[in-house]
Amino acid sequence: MTHALSLSVNGVAYSLGVGGGQTLLSVLRDEVGLTGTKEGCDDSECGACMVLLDGQPVNSCSYLAMQAEGRDVTTVEGLARDGELHAVQRALIEAGGIQCGFCTSGMLVSAAALLAERADPSEDEVRLALAGNLCRCTGYQKIVEGVLAAAAELQTARG
Ligand code: FES
Ligand code: FES
Repeated sequence: MTHALSLSVNGVAYSLGVGGGQTLLSVLRDEVGLTGTKEGCDDSECGACMVLLDGQPVNSCSYLAMQAEGRDVTTVEGLARDGELHAVQRALIEAGGIQCGFCTSGMLVSAAALLAERADPSEDEVRLALAGNLCRCTGYQKIVEGVLAAAAELQTARG
C-alpha cells in the first residue's frame, strides 16, 4: 500500500507515493533520484545518509519518509548554490579531506549545519558536530581542517 507524501527537496516540491515503512533515504535515492546521499550501515551508526530536515541533520536511513510530510529536506546536492560549491565543499577538496568519498556527503551535510549555526566553531565543536559521521580513510584531521578553513572563509566573506 502506498501513501501520498508531499515534501520539498532542495527547494523543489515533490508529491510521491511511498510505502508506509519506506525510509527517507530510500525515497531520496530511489524515488527522487538523488544518489549523493549514501547508504552505509542502514542503522544510524555511520552518518553516510545524513540530510538536513528543516535545517537539522538527521540520519535518513532511520527516518520514515512519511515523517517528512510537508517539510524541507536538503541533501548534499542542495548545498551548492547557483553553480557555486558551498564553502565547506571547496575547503574539503582543498584540505585533502576526501579519499574514497563514501562518507563525504554526510560529512558535508553535518558541517554545513554546524556552520549555519556557529560562524566561528572551535576545533572541539567541529569534532563534536562530526561525531556521528564515520570515515574509514582520512583519519579525520584533514576533514576538521577543511571545516575550520570553510568557517574562516565564510567569516571573511561576511566581513
Ligand atoms: Fe544511515 Fe549509516 S546509513 S547512519
Ligand atoms: Fe572514505 Fe571517508 S573518505 S570513508
